[in-house]
Amino acid sequence: MQTLEALDLYHLPMGDPAMGEDPWPEFEKARQRHPWLARWDEFGYVVHEYAAMRELFRQDDKLRPPYAGIVEELGQVGTPWGRFTQEQMIALPPDQHKLLRTTFAAKFTPRNANQLRPMMRATVARLLDDWAPRGAIDFEEFSSHFPISVMFALVGAPHEGIALLRDDLEAIGLAHSYQLDRFPRIQEGMVRLEKFVEDTIAERRAHPRADGVEDLLELLIRTGDEGEISPRQLTDLIMFFFIAGYDTSKNVLTYTMYTLLDYPEIYARCAEDYDYCRKVIEEALRWFNPGTVARYADEDIAYRGVLIPKDTMLFFPLSVSGRDPVTYPDGDRFDPDRPIEPERRHIAFALGKHMCLGQYIARAQLQEALHQIAQRIREPRLAGPVGWRPFPGTWGLRGLPITFTPGEARVREAEPA
Ligand code: HEM
Repeated sequence: MQTLEALDLYHLPMGDPAMGEDPWPEFEKARQRHPWLARWDEFGYVVHEYAAMRELFRQDDKLRPPYAGIVEELGQVGTPWGRFTQEQMIALPPDQHKLLRTTFAAKFTPRNANQLRPMMRATVARLLDDWAPRGAIDFEEFSSHFPISVMFALVGAPHEGIALLRDDLEAIGLAHSYQLDRFPRIQEGMVRLEKFVEDTIAERRAHPRADGVEDLLELLIRTGDEGEISPRQLTDLIMFFFIAGYDTSKNVLTYTMYTLLDYPEIYARCAEDYDYCRKVIEEALRWFNPGTVARYADEDIAYRGVLIPKDTMLFFPLSVSGRDPVTYPDGDRFDPDRPIEPERRHIAFALGKHMCLGQYIARAQLQEALHQIAQRIREPRLAGPVGWRPFPGTWGLRGLPITFTPGEARVREAEPA
């Protein structure tokens, strides 16, 4: 059994702005030195191979989320972000996490997500009515309005608050790039988000919906009450939905558009063929996703002849897993008709006991958005330079200027299954 110290590992320049722009050559260098592991000097080790990520997540009882340690290391204990990060769903001790997850998981099925599609469709149509006639937009800015508008509709909050909270979520989303100068703005955003969620819950408890329809907020309140979830946990959970669902979805939508600029035939077909949009989104999630998951080894782990000692910090860059050349020899080809085999399924939503609870909502909103965007934003062309968000963190594009031909809104006849 080899020790970590005995391995000759590549030191990945994580956090370097060049990694945000183009991480792939760095991961290639890491692969040349070791098939599945690299070093991140400040924090720990990076598991960079798709198969190793899958296999280690299969043993996720031996891993523990590292948030308490990260908050301490960043000197954020007792701050609004620090408190939330140490108590949010992923950070809870296993028994408390299990209780919270089993209480809510049954409500986050594909069926439940499908019921939200008419609202998602109406939300994207409304945004496109405003943005599509312009002919030239920053697509990232456009797409940043979509997931947050969906979340506002899900909790029945008035639209006026969207702009401010969007800026807050933008700031909060950069927390996991671990750059200390960002934290004053992040704390401001956390205070506002918490107040917004508390007010929204209080308003709904005081005034339940008159039409008798149970929307997501009502469902969460009722399920939380029945499952004896504390008011603090319910507030944190809804805050978490806003944080977890915002720039993940936005960045995937933006990167999908960026990719499809090079595949005009695929893009044009998305306007005509709703079912094809599902395939395009699955391939897009393989091709790019924003997440890097962090864990500590909770005990000594022996894996492929290497001993990972207890308390070693491990990073899993899901974001680059879908183009690992060992699993995807032709991974640099964007092909929505690629067969989806169980052992090569993308892991954009992670695996194991923390696998994304919002994955069906995320997929539904991305599919609905893409279908209508392709109808209204026709023949898009890149109109200027793009920027990049830090890697890791919630990675993605910063700015995507495009010009295009405005298209007509259309009504889709068939409802999704
Ligand atoms: C494309 C969009 C999305 C991506 C790529 C994504 C990705 C992820 C990943 C990688 C995790 C695991 C994190 C970890 O283990 O440390 C996660 C967890 C989670 N996500 Fe998402 N997510 C997306 C959208 C959403 C949305 C829209 C929601 C809510 C409506 C959501 C709610 C959650 C929740 C609640 C968890 C924690 C589950 C648990 O700890 O049991 N996500 N997500």
